[in-house]
Amino acid sequence: MRIILRFGGIALLVAAIVILAVLPFATSFVEQWSRRDVELRSRLLFNSARDQVASLLQKNDATDLNALFDRITSDERVLAIGYCDVSGLRFPTKNMPASFSCEQAARSNTETFSTLLEENRNILVSAFPLRIGNGQMGHLVILHDLSYADRRGWEARNYLFLALTGVAFGAAALASIIATLVMRRWLASIRQAIESARTGTAGAPADDELIPIGQEIRDVLQELESSRRTIDAAHTDWNPETLRAALSNELSGSEVIVVSNREPYIHNKTEDGSIVLQIPASGLVAALEPVTRACGGTWIAHGSGTADRETVDVNNRVAVPPSHPSYTLRRVWLTEEEQDGYYYGAANEGLWPLCHIAFVRPVFRESDWRMYRAVNEKFADAVVAEAKREDPIVLVQDYHFALLPRMIRDRLPRATIVTFWHIPWPNAETFGICPWREEIIDGLLGSSILGFHTQAHCNHFLDAVDTYVESRIDRENDSVTFGGEETLIRPYPISIEWPPTALEGQKPVSECRRVVRERLGLPEDIRIGVGIERFDYTKGIVDRLQAIDTLLTENPEWKGRFTFIQVAAPTRSKLANYRLLQDEAEALAREINERHGSESYEPIKLLVRHHQPDQVFELFRAADLCIVSSLHDGMNLVAKEFVAARDDEEGVLILSAFAGASRELSEALIVNPYNGHAMAQAIDRALRMSQNEQRERMRLMRDQVRERNVYRWAGQMLLAASRLRKKQRIRRLIKAGRRAAANA
Ligand code: F6P
Repeated sequence: MRIILRFGGIALLVAAIVILAVLPFATSFVEQWSRRDVELRSRLLFNSARDQVASLLQKNDATDLNALFDRITSDERVLAIGYCDVSGLRFPTKNMPASFSCEQAARSNTETFSTLLEENRNILVSAFPLRIGNGQMGHLVILHDLSYADRRGWEARNYLFLALTGVAFGAAALASIIATLVMRRWLASIRQAIESARTGTAGAPADDELIPIGQEIRDVLQELESSRRTIDAAHTDWNPETLRAALSNELSGSEVIVVSNREPYIHNKTEDGSIVLQIPASGLVAALEPVTRACGGTWIAHGSGTADRETVDVNNRVAVPPSHPSYTLRRVWLTEEEQDGYYYGAANEGLWPLCHIAFVRPVFRESDWRMYRAVNEKFADAVVAEAKREDPIVLVQDYHFALLPRMIRDRLPRATIVTFWHIPWPNAETFGICPWREEIIDGLLGSSILGFHTQAHCNHFLDAVDTYVESRIDRENDSVTFGGEETLIRPYPISIEWPPTALEGQKPVSECRRVVRERLGLPEDIRIGVGIERFDYTKGIVDRLQAIDTLLTENPEWKGRFTFIQVAAPTRSKLANYRLLQDEAEALAREINERHGSESYEPIKLLVRHHQPDQVFELFRAADLCIVSSLHDGMNLVAKEFVAARDDEEGVLILSAFAGASRELSEALIVNPYNGHAMAQAIDRALRMSQNEQRERMRLMRDQVRERNVYRWAGQMLLAASRLRKKQRIRRLIKAGRRAAANA
């Protein structure tokens, strides 16, 4: 309808311009023409009456002259007549305007015509030289009322106006009819395309000119339909094969680029000069590495290892995993100054405490932010350099790259950018203290899809957008339109691979227990608890140790019968808060061991070093319980790894209510890490829990982690990206169709 109105409107506008341009010319033409007509009449009158008037003037026969003049003025258009000589106006007829005098007539030796305005009407004064017998010279003046000429001009203008308006409406109607017919043909073609995509038939051939559009839309819709089927079929069984199949069905030929700060493989040099490979203690890496192995492509990350430069090619690339390469790791080098400002400063002293409610005050330094921006630019350069196509799928990871999506969008406008924020998003009020809040939101809204672990974090982000930038938020569809571009905001709870690689080659649970006990010098009948993470203040390590202190105080029967193994990988040790935490935890562990331990018994075994995934899994299998007591955590994959490691279906998980994982693993013993007494009770309960109850709980949690594994996480994001790409293609085709229809 809008298009039809637009067509009609344009036709009317053109017609209106023509009318406005033509009307004044038409009016003045008619007026000129009428005036020339009157002049001609005056001349005719004079020529026919000249001799008679001259003879009567010579005779000075006033009676006959008056009678003659009256006869002439009986023609309604002749207003008056008279004779001008040296004595002035003589023999004027009765309609001669009182104000008229011979001076007003332009007299000369030839005929003259002049116009006089009298009582709001135009009067044409024609003056004809007339010599009478005695040689005396005078002028016969004939006055015509020109009102009728004006009237004729107005009438002509009105008729012309009506005629042109009629033509304009006719043209508008014609244009609308043509537009309607073209639109109908075009819509019929699209409908036909949709119908044949729905029914799976080839459909009748579309209109010649519209075939390419109809065909393409049909193709895209068929792809969308099959993508829906892929999701339906694969929703219960996501694994590397289904992910690969979904990718090749839905995104075949697409290029996948992953960007994260932490690299999945770190090459480090040992003291003896040999090179060792380290898999970092990072939830992000644990989740994304198996996915990238399945998808192939390029992973761009900071090369932080001491032997990283020695192990790349001239383009800073290395094929990984080293044992059976399936994707390319592209390393980006950062100077110490860049790491200080971007990683330690803006990301880990600013955004990390801002987003985690752990009551550590964030530090916002402008110099850090400048470095953060510069490093994001550096990674944008790397993405553009690595992209082989203009429309890659770029998976941007985490709070280190809040500005990167916008930077990529500006340089690769057709890229599909899926950003995942691995940490919590605070409520709008808390986020509001960040001096870079608008820039962060703008940067993230460069994404096509922005993912968080939970719906609550999505809602917090939408509230922040609502509060701090001008945009259109669609709450029903959870999307934001900012600067004309739409970003979908979606919850994608991250997970781990299933079955986990680290489980391969693990000994039976009883054997793992024996090995761990022997390694740590623990007695045979000891009950074991574990906690494994980076030494981070958000993990609630101190609160957990205090809870064990409370347990041994309130339930002394566990002294000598329960040991807690805390593995803490040093992390971000350059920052004071992290060093303080480590000092505090080490001092507390010593204190508890002194208070409750003996020469042969240490309640706490604190192992401050990095453990490789298979060592972590061995510990999980050796334990009776695992404590995840995060003060705040986006998801926490340690909880899921513990569950995955327990193929014997035993062991108890004690899990913080403030970790995203608690939404999924509700069969864990859910605790408030700030409540030491309740946590101690939960440990006691876990140690007393029957095997049957352990199994029931563990089975349900294992089903959950198996089904909602990391292939599902990645698959859902990639399928959402694929649907988005197809929808964008349809939109582009529809736009092209509209243009074609407008030009038809
Ligand atoms: O929780 C967010 C996260 O990126 C994790 O995925 C990862 O474990 C950690 O933060 C990053 O740690 P690091 O600073 O050592 O890379």
